[in-house]
Amino acid sequence: MSAETLPANAPVFGYRHLLGIQGFSAEEISFLLDISNRYASALPQDLKKESILSGFTVINLFFETSTRTLTSFELAAKRLGADVINMQIAWSSIKKGETLIDTAMTLNAMHPDVLVVRHPDSGAVKLLSEKVNCCVMNGGDGSHEHPTQALLDALTILRRKGRLAGLKVAISGDIKHSRVARSNIYLLTTMGAQVRVIAPPTLLPAAIERLGVEAYTDMRAGLKDVDIVMMLRLQTERMQGSFVPSIREYFHFFGLDRDKLSLAKPDALVMHPGPMNRGVEIDSELADDIDRSAIREQVEMGVAVRMACLDVLTAPERSRRAQAR
Ligand code: NCD
Repeated sequence: MSAETLPANAPVFGYRHLLGIQGFSAEEISFLLDISNRYASALPQDLKKESILSGFTVINLFFETSTRTLTSFELAAKRLGADVINMQIAWSSIKKGETLIDTAMTLNAMHPDVLVVRHPDSGAVKLLSEKVNCCVMNGGDGSHEHPTQALLDALTILRRKGRLAGLKVAISGDIKHSRVARSNIYLLTTMGAQVRVIAPPTLLPAAIERLGVEAYTDMRAGLKDVDIVMMLRLQTERMQGSFVPSIREYFHFFGLDRDKLSLAKPDALVMHPGPMNRGVEIDSELADDIDRSAIREQVEMGVAVRMACLDVLTAPERSRRAQAR
């Protein structure tokens, strides 16, 4: 764990940055989920009064395009009263290496309090966190981690199912390139869920079982009796060459439709982090079925989780400022 440790009187969560879920204890995850749940249950008028981040600056630095995650971080920071700047940078159009550090130094000179970073390279967000003076939150780095996505997925499951421990969760699709899969595997296994991954052999990372999951290359076998079905899209932007013979064949074997879903528990919940490719990994009509799908709720929980993470990470600085007054 690379996060710096806070003073002893800080709450359970003793990290300066949120870089990933790997290494967090069940207590630390529960702590974040508990605060997220409080934000999710708060009434809009309660939140209007919450300007705990007034006088704080949050910069969203996105080197990859994003709709959901960027908007969600922006909304979360604004709801807490922060000044927010969004920077979307076309990574492919600039030189790598030095440029990331240059960007970090430039931003550092502007004295932000929180930097939310999304980057196509695994590990880039951690590197940046070592160069700046503020809190850094990982908004997704390459195929590595996407911690707030795993937290919002867990919060969605908790609110629908009442628990995480003992649930059977299938994560299906492009596991190999997915930071969402990785962060979810770390979180869910730590919280006592039984996690399965389902993918064609070409999209399963080698030795994935070492992360404490069961791997299936047959979707029907993998879906049997699960409580949660988490679908992932084919991350073609991270693929060199083709990993599946054809989209049609992929949907036939690995696309979620009602027929395959009938193998899961009757009340199994369908999830997807978005963006969805309808007709590729999920049947379009099923994705919109509000009785089975929690996809809309996931987006809603995203704002609550990001508010909670901003709250927790800025708590030490807020108390420092309060004392200095
Ligand atoms: C995911 C991401 O960017 O990693 N999406 C998201 O954060 N909403 C998943 C994806 O891009 O497929």
